[in-house]
Amino acid sequence: MMEKSILLVDDEAGIRKVLSIALSDLGYQVHTAENGLEALRIFEDKRPPIVLTDIKMPEMDGIELLRRLKKISPDTEVIMITGHGDMDLAIKSVKYEATDFVTKPINDEVLEIALNRATERITMRQTLNEYTQNLEQLVQDKTQQLVEAERLAAVGQTVAGLSHAIKNITGGLKGGAFVLEKGIELNDQKYLMQGWEMIRGNVDKITNLSLDLLNYAKATDLNIQACDPRQPAQEVIDLMRPRAQELGIELVSDFSQDLNSCHFDADLICRCLLNLVTNAIDACRNDDPDAPDKKVTVRVKKARGWGVEYQVLDNGCGMNAKTQKRIFQHFFSTKGSEGTGIGLMISKKIIDEHNGVINIESEEGAGSKFFIKLPKVSNG
Ligand SMILES: Nc1ncnc2c1ncn2[C@@H]1O[C@H](COP(=O)(O)OP(=O)(O)O)[C@@H](O)[C@H]1O
Ligand SMILES: [Mg+2]
Repeated sequence: MMEKSILLVDDEAGIRKVLSIALSDLGYQVHTAENGLEALRIFEDKRPPIVLTDIKMPEMDGIELLRRLKKISPDTEVIMITGHGDMDLAIKSVKYEATDFVTKPINDEVLEIALNRATERITMRQTLNEYTQNLEQLVQDKTQQLVEAERLAAVGQTVAGLSHAIKNITGGLKGGAFVLEKGIELNDQKYLMQGWEMIRGNVDKITNLSLDLLNYAKATDLNIQACDPRQPAQEVIDLMRPRAQELGIELVSDFSQDLNSCHFDADLICRCLLNLVTNAIDACRNDDPDAPDKKVTVRVKKARGWGVEYQVLDNGCGMNAKTQKRIFQHFFSTKGSEGTGIGLMISKKIIDEHNGVINIESEEGAGSKFFIKLPKVSNG
C-alpha cells in the first residue's frame, strides 16, 4: 500500500496550521514548507506521493514548483490551492499536469474529495504497473520454457538420428566380423575376403559420418580462399572413380574451360560434392539392374550473376515429390540401414554458409539433378 504522506506548501503560517490539522485528521503524515525551495528540499528527502501547494507564493510560485516536481517525479499528484482571481494561473497549471484544484477558503469536504481522487489515481497506476510487470515476467517465462523445450526436442532428435546411424554401422561391422571369423575358422579365402570387404566398407562409413558430424557441429569459420572451381569437383571424381567402376557406373566430368577463380572453402565444397556424387551412385546402384547404362555426371560451369555452378546429374532411381521435400531434413533417408540421412543436411548447411543456393530436379524413375550456385566471393 502507498505511504500516506503529504507535503503541504503555503507561505501563510495560518493556512499551514489549519490545513495541517485537517490533513492529520484525514490520516496523513504532513510535511510543511513555507516556500518553493524548502518544498523541493523536503520533497527530495521524503518523496511524498501527494503535494498540496498554494499557487501564489513569493519568489517561486506554485506553478514553477509544480513544473519542477513533475520533472523530478512525473507520477507525483500535485493539488493546487487557488484564490479568487487566480484563474489565469490555474489554467496555466493544467498544462503542467496539476491533478486538481481547491479554492480558498478551503472546505474540508472538497479537500477530501480531491485527495481521494489523487489517491485513487496513485493506486490505479501502481496496480497497472504491477500488471504490466507480471505480464512481462509471464511472457519471459513462457518464452524461456518454449526455447528450452525446442532445444531439448532438437537434442533428442539428433541423438536418436545419430544412434540410428551408428547402430547401422556397428551392425555392418559385426556382420563383417562374423564372416571374417568364419573364414578364419574354416580357413576359407572367400569368406575372409567377404568379411574384410564388409569391414572396410563400414570403416569408410564411420569415417564419413564423423567427418560430416564434425562439419555440422563446427561453428561457422570458413576457410575462404581463391580457388579454381574445377579443383574440388576433380578431387571428388578421382575419389569416387574406383567405386563407380566397381559398380559398373560411368562417372563423367564435364568442366567448362573458361572459368574464373572463386572464393570459397574448397574442403567444404569438396565434402558437399562428395555427398551428392555418393548419393547419385547409390541412386544408380539401387535402380533396376536391367535398366540402361548408368551414368553420373559432374558438371562445372558459369552461371549468370554467380561465381560458379556445379551440377551433379544421374539417371538412377529419382525421387517422388514427397521425398524431394524432405531430403534436406536432419536424418532423412530412404536407404534403411544403408543410409544415415546426414549427407544432404550437411551439404545444405555448407552451401548456406557460402551464401549459395542448392536446388533439385528429379522424377521418380527418371534420375535426379542437383544444382549448386556459389557467389564469386563467399564471405562466410
Ligand atoms: N541422386 C539421388 N537420387 C535419388 N534420391 C536421392 C538422391 N540424393 C538424395 N536422395 C534421397 O535423399 C535422401 C537423403 O540423402 P542423404 O542426406 O545423403 O542421406 P543418405 O544418403 O544417408 O540416405 C536419400 O536417402 C535419398 O532418398
Ligand atoms: Mg547420402
